[in-house]
Amino acid sequence: MYYSDELIEEVRSSNDIVDVISSYVRLQKKGGTYFGLCPFHNEKSPSFSVTPAKQMYYCFGCGQGGNVFTFMMKYENYSFTEAVQNLADRAGITLPVGEFTAAEKAKADLKMQLLQVNNEAAKYFYRLLKSEKGQRAYEYLKNRGLSDETITKFGLGYSSNYKDDLYQYIKSKGYTDEVLKESGLFTFSEKGVYDKFSNRVMFPIMDINNRVIAFGGRVMGDGQPKYLNSPETMLFDKSRNLYGLNVARSSRKDSILICEGYMDVIALHQAGFNNAVASLGTAYTSKHASLLKRYTENVYLTFDSDGAGVKAALRALPILRQAGISAKVINMKPYKDPDEFIKNLGAEEYEKRIENARNSFMFEVDKLREETDENDPDKKAKFQKEVATRLLRFSDALERNVYIDAVSEEFMIPKDSLTKTVNTLALTYDGEKTESTIKQEEVKKEKTPMSAGCEAQKTLLTWLIEEQGVYNQIKSYITKKDFVEEPYAKVAEMLFEQLENGEINPAKIINYFGSEEEQNQVAGLFNANIGADLVREEKIKRLVQAVEKVKANSLDYRSKNETDLKEFLNIQKEKDSFKNVKIKIDL
Ligand code: GTP
Ligand code: MN
Repeated sequence: MYYSDELIEEVRSSNDIVDVISSYVRLQKKGGTYFGLCPFHNEKSPSFSVTPAKQMYYCFGCGQGGNVFTFMMKYENYSFTEAVQNLADRAGITLPVGEFTAAEKAKADLKMQLLQVNNEAAKYFYRLLKSEKGQRAYEYLKNRGLSDETITKFGLGYSSNYKDDLYQYIKSKGYTDEVLKESGLFTFSEKGVYDKFSNRVMFPIMDINNRVIAFGGRVMGDGQPKYLNSPETMLFDKSRNLYGLNVARSSRKDSILICEGYMDVIALHQAGFNNAVASLGTAYTSKHASLLKRYTENVYLTFDSDGAGVKAALRALPILRQAGISAKVINMKPYKDPDEFIKNLGAEEYEKRIENARNSFMFEVDKLREETDENDPDKKAKFQKEVATRLLRFSDALERNVYIDAVSEEFMIPKDSLTKTVNTLALTYDGEKTESTIKQEEVKKEKTPMSAGCEAQKTLLTWLIEEQGVYNQIKSYITKKDFVEEPYAKVAEMLFEQLENGEINPAKIINYFGSEEEQNQVAGLFNANIGADLVREEKIKRLVQAVEKVKANSLDYRSKNETDLKEFLNIQKEKDSFKNVKIKIDL
């Protein structure tokens, strides 16, 4: 959907940024700025600022910043369009509806109806659980230690043992068979239509926006299959959803706990670990990993402690690693899964297990070791070689050495010998070399020191929006052309136009920049340290210095890049005359 710039700006200016962010972050006013704990990185003292005058937020700790759209995109994980739609809604602005093709419209319509059907079904199951018919199911859940609050929070329910109870109910709501066929809730056969879930405890599966997209159902007792899940439908893609993520994503903890089952997630949440999620009865895929990556870079695997659980963990670890997630593995022995662990030892003991979780590398080595027969010298050598290969994954020598130390100590491999194996293998190793070179290049790019010119341009841009009078004082020395290189040039161009028209609106400028990275950078330009606490003379002195630097930098840049001789000579002239200019500024 395409919205005009004017409309986007109307939506932005109708949503006061302090209002919007206050509903997510506790803010405290200090002077003209609000401060709070940054929701985008972990911190103990507030460096996250929201400035009503700029209609922008900026974190001095992590450098994230932007306007109200940037915030919603980042916090709610919305696309830009979703952020606009959501905020328009909030401000009571009606957005134009786009033109859809007939097929698109039909699809959107069906999807909407399927969501409604699921929602009706979830409510129906829930009511049934609380009714007389559901008494046994309710007792089953109570016996498994769930509180009423938890049952309600996860919307648990019960599916009747009558063959088409749900079908009759949903039909009475007016949905057609065409729609119900797509819902995955019913079996259509020549003999009739049957409810797929019957006589089971029901777990509604929600997407991150709390919409019911599928169900899982468990038998009460020993039937087969133990769990039955909705088939994949238009709404439900198992590899793109995680049970509990709708809650976990706003837990604001800096990690996510990954477990295997519905009951594990629920037990963990009930015990206060509201950052737990589970896959929906499938193995972890890279799609799950990139979904998780949106919310955290730290996960703890808390899979079953049996052989299958270990295997699942060993499979999941490289997938997570590739997505840039660092994983640790929680040991729940002697219990089978988090649910049973917590029932027996409680939340505090579980917290300790989290603290003592094994990092993924050491966990993998543990498992290799368990498979190795210590009395077989061949196997021992193979183990050492295998460990050495894995050590090569650490491209940072320091980090690698830390692990060499740890492994040689714990597994009693002589350190010299292990180091030698690692070094020998390194000569022929090329498996992940590309990965490490890319990493190094990235680091280099990040570390480029900001030139004095950039710093001064930043300072000046911040001054221009902070203090009304500054523009008039500097405009005889500085024009928008003196801001060279992007994004300074584009930002200055727009800001100078605003200044000419007497309407300073930095948050509007941010709309122009598409990527989150650019938005952060631009927010940074408007939040430079201009020495607000300094005495007047000192402030003026610094401002004058900034003007001088910006001008000098611009003349330098222009003379280097000018290809036209006449222009070049003009610049030289300007350079000479600027030397004699005495900048006068009064605040
Ligand atoms: P409880 O016995 O209720 O505590 O379940 P659990 O989570 O401890 O059981 P288990 O470790 O056997 O299963 C973990 C997860 O795998 C479940 O939550 C389901 O998502 C899935 N699962 C288990 N059994 C079945 C099954 O028979 N069919 C399907 N499709 N999925 C299953
Ligand atoms: Mn269990």
